[in-house]
Amino acid sequence: MKFGYFDDSRKEYVINTPRTPYPWINYLGNQGFFSLISNTAGGYSFYMDARLRRITRYRYNNVPLDMGGRYFYINDNGTIWNPGWSPVKTDLDEYECRHGMGYTIIKGKKNGLKAEVTFFVPQNYDGEVQQVVLTNDSAEAKEFSFFSIAEWCLWDAQDDCTNFQRNFSTGRVEIEGSTIYHVTEYRDRRNHYAFYTVNDEIDGYDTDRDAFLGSIYNGWDNPETVKAGKASDSFADGWSPVASHYKKITLAPGESKTLIFILGYAENPQDKKFAAEKPEGLLTREKWVLNKEKAYAMIDKYNTPEKVAAGLAELKDTWDKLLSIFKVDTPDDKVNRMVNIWNQYQCMVTFNLSRSASYFESGIGRGMGFRDSNQDILGFVHQIPERARERLIDIASTQLSDGGCYHQYQPLTKKGNADIGGDFSDDPLWMILSVAAYIKETGDWSILDANVPFDDDPEGKHTMLEHLDVSFYHIVNNLGPHGLPLAMRADWNDCINLSCFSDTPGESFQTYTNPKFKAEGGYSKIAESVFVAALFTYTGPAYVGILEHLGKADEAAKAQAEIDKMKKNTMESAFDGDWFLRAYDANGEKMGSKECEEGKIFIEPQGFAVMSEIGKEEGADIKTLNAIDKYLNCEYGLVLNNPAFTKYYIQYGEISTYPGGYKENAGIFTHNNAWIICAEAYAGRGEKAFEYYSKIAPAFTEETSDIHKTEPYVYGQMIGGKDAKNFGQGKNSWLTGTAAWNMVAISQYILGVKPEFDGLRVDPSIPAAWDGFTATRQFRGDTYEITIKNPDHVNKGVKKLTVDGVDVEGCIVPVAGDGNTHKVEVLLG
Ligand code: BGC
Ligand code: NOJ
Repeated sequence: MKFGYFDDSRKEYVINTPRTPYPWINYLGNQGFFSLISNTAGGYSFYMDARLRRITRYRYNNVPLDMGGRYFYINDNGTIWNPGWSPVKTDLDEYECRHGMGYTIIKGKKNGLKAEVTFFVPQNYDGEVQQVVLTNDSAEAKEFSFFSIAEWCLWDAQDDCTNFQRNFSTGRVEIEGSTIYHVTEYRDRRNHYAFYTVNDEIDGYDTDRDAFLGSIYNGWDNPETVKAGKASDSFADGWSPVASHYKKITLAPGESKTLIFILGYAENPQDKKFAAEKPEGLLTREKWVLNKEKAYAMIDKYNTPEKVAAGLAELKDTWDKLLSIFKVDTPDDKVNRMVNIWNQYQCMVTFNLSRSASYFESGIGRGMGFRDSNQDILGFVHQIPERARERLIDIASTQLSDGGCYHQYQPLTKKGNADIGGDFSDDPLWMILSVAAYIKETGDWSILDANVPFDDDPEGKHTMLEHLDVSFYHIVNNLGPHGLPLAMRADWNDCINLSCFSDTPGESFQTYTNPKFKAEGGYSKIAESVFVAALFTYTGPAYVGILEHLGKADEAAKAQAEIDKMKKNTMESAFDGDWFLRAYDANGEKMGSKECEEGKIFIEPQGFAVMSEIGKEEGADIKTLNAIDKYLNCEYGLVLNNPAFTKYYIQYGEISTYPGGYKENAGIFTHNNAWIICAEAYAGRGEKAFEYYSKIAPAFTEETSDIHKTEPYVYGQMIGGKDAKNFGQGKNSWLTGTAAWNMVAISQYILGVKPEFDGLRVDPSIPAAWDGFTATRQFRGDTYEITIKNPDHVNKGVKKLTVDGVDVEGCIVPVAGDGNTHKVEVLLG
């Protein structure tokens, strides 16, 4: 069952009922100011950091679920409704929500009155613009009252939802004309404020939530002021400040009226915080006056429909350009819309926000993840490489000089988060992969010389190359009894906690240090991760390639020897006959082995082991891929492990706490499905690669949205696995490494267009039925127009490759570097 459709020509997903099986959301903002917006206009805004600089309030885990947002209310002769249906939920005569690239348009119609609201955050602008167009489609004149509402968050979202003894007494506002300013704590220790304005005169306002709702017993679905058809002109003093505009509107038949609202954020320099004089008409209870210069300029920027149209056009143009860097035309529409539109769009969002703020991430739990952000870059780097470079330097600056890493950092402070700490065994390796991806994309080797400090030596002069060195050797220097990497607190799978042995509720599986391992530095020196071994052998060659390029032949050879040794150790101690083990636990027992009672096979190490060709000469790759198909493959994707754990294994940790089929315990973790898609494509099995891809790619789930439940245009972290009651149900949509990895899987492995240090590899691994496809790729200043022909209907194999009609040996298109367009023709066979 579907709840909308893709409008590819406008790059939009169109939702035609407000009753989606879960709030289907979009993100507005690309740089500093961000908003989440659902198909009923729920959600919230923040500046830079969803925890430390929250602008509007949102209550997670609320009942009903998506309650709170930026809402407009209409009281049309006693019929009260919202353009996005919620919160009043009056049945609408027409409803539509279009989520597009950085904007959302919500349309509602009731009794001949139409409201169309366009929400977007313009480029380089710290505010959300909301353009409301009201049209009287009826034959009679209409007189109605119109209200806006936004509820302020008192800046620190964590504090806002816990520290009520203070917060209920701090709220402050100022009102000037049609602009309501939020200035809580501004006088004292803050130099930032927010405002909500409309480009027209208003007939009233409310800034106190209880006054707007009329009673502490009312919800957003039942505000007294709206029912009364009139604002109460309340002035907030503590409690919960809000911003609501009220306007009486009369429309003749056929007449339209446009109102432009702006929800903005601004910061003032310390010495310019206050205005010298109190302007006439300003409403305040304070002796001081906010310096509003910045707000005035922001308001002036988008206070007419023409200016709004220009801002929207600029946003659209930005996205058209971003999406023209890589474009494909394959025989499959769903692939096209994923690759050309939605997957790339999601990659931008995950790059911007890591795992911080979604409808499943509260924005207060996590900042930017070290491993997450590095992986996000893999899917984003071609879009704006300069931003990727900046991010790489930020992330690397939180690394420690021994190669260890803080697992997360706050975007506002850019400092490692001490509460979470480090010792996640995989973290440093992702840094190598992302820096290599950046160089492969741009050819900008200078990043290796960039000055990048270590967290424990902030003043020291260090280079990015040193960060890669310590990353690589952090693995080599921390091996266990089988010569495999120590598992530490966790590897990529946060829920395999081999040193935790937790038996007390509330202990964090990732950060709790069991006294048993305190003396050893916090984690077992026995438990080893086969996943990290495989990731090391997959990532290591990029490091070797970098050293070779720099002419450091000895160091390259030394690193290569470590990779070879790791492969040998893995084959000797971690190949279980038909697949690779997952780990050795702290008791030295095998995890993910035929010998285990449950959790006999795990997905994570397999893909990287296959792509590293560990044991290929003995057929380990094909045996492994076949085992995955046999034990992990099911209708909706590949489960993480099998059989699911049915009891708590104290020696494994969090993984065994989830009911079977959910999350890391045999859920379909889409992120690591991508690694198998890559591995199948790498091994030349284009059919299987595509089968797995089409099981999880969102556009393919659209028809079963009633089962899948989350947005059919973006990946979620997980889909309920075959052991789950809710088999096939998506969860944790939007912020997941799946976005980047599936972008890699489809573009670089299946379609086979893959940047390398020395050029652009073109080596597809596709379904045999395809006659071919075309792709356009901007790469290092040139444009390549690629045509793939598959007359023999093979999966893989480049028989002939020409660039501008000239034969090229192998399948790497050399960098032309002349800024021109080049024709690449590839014949498979
Ligand atoms: C989740 C993981 C997550 C981890 C760290 C666990 O509860 O299952 O997916 O990465 O917490 O936040
Ligand atoms: C989500 C986390 O963000 C990611 O870092 C981790 O790898 C996966 N969960 C698997 O546990």
